[in-house]
Amino acid sequence: MDILEVRDLRKSFGGIKAVDGIDFVVKRNEIFGIIGPNGAGKTTVFNLITGIYKPDSGSVKFKGVEVTRLKSYMVASLGIARTFQNLRLFKNLTVYENLLVGGLSKRNYPLYSALFRTKSYFKVEREVRKKVDDTLEFFELQDKKVLKAGTLPYGEQRKLELARALMIEPELILIDEPGAGMNPKEINDLARMILAIREKYGLTMIVIEHQMSLIMNISARIMVMDFGKKVMEGKPDEVKMDKRVIEAYLGEEPNA
Ligand SMILES: Nc1ncnc2c1ncn2[C@@H]1O[C@H](COP(=O)(O)OP(=O)(O)OP(=O)(O)O)[C@@H](O)[C@H]1O
Ligand SMILES: [Mg+2]
Repeated sequence: MDILEVRDLRKSFGGIKAVDGIDFVVKRNEIFGIIGPNGAGKTTVFNLITGIYKPDSGSVKFKGVEVTRLKSYMVASLGIARTFQNLRLFKNLTVYENLLVGGLSKRNYPLYSALFRTKSYFKVEREVRKKVDDTLEFFELQDKKVLKAGTLPYGEQRKLELARALMIEPELILIDEPGAGMNPKEINDLARMILAIREKYGLTMIVIEHQMSLIMNISARIMVMDFGKKVMEGKPDEVKMDKRVIEAYLGEEPNA
């Protein structure tokens, strides 16, 4: 069954057609990769799916329901989480607090009950704290929980951003360049972690990535974008062999 269906999605900024008629579907539990050169429109696709931008035209359906013009907090509450290419952690809060805030944000909890510490607030808080502890353990961040997020090495900040996104218990997560700035060992660990997350949480994932070793290893299918359009879509092996992909990425013909 398809969990996400994107049809003829379009978005221009001034004269730039950032997303120029994109179609794709993602199956439940799949890892779907998106690659393409800088400025191809990949992040804009995420921004359109998550309600950060409104498309000029086209549609996005999540579990058969039109979400195209919903506000981003509504999209999140329906079960779509995301991470940002430019990290959006609370750098002056601790690792633990970042996860706690992520978890409480989902509960959509009335402010008064937090302020006046009602009984049900304590119940929710207890549940969320339990989930924070589980998440810290899964991401191997327990030892870092009292550190300010901004003091973590870059690779761990990326991991924390991913962990925080999972705190809303999404069914679909959109991950924008999780491997950016990571070394080959960190990339390897990340690939393992992404696969484990999918197992543990039964998630569907869309991953944008420039690191070919990562995206080719984890994706079931990959969409290649350039100039706002889909260049091709296929299994990693098909994509790797495609002349247009090799040209776009390596700037030369295969075996030339
Ligand atoms: N808010 C905006 N205002 C104006 N132009 C924008 C905006 N967001 C994106 N663009 C433009 O749309 C095009 C696609 O940008 P986008 O960020 O989606 O590319 P990308 O594929 O994610 O690139 P990268 O790999 O560098 O992250 C670019 O030309 C970009 O400058
Ligand atoms: Mg981008």
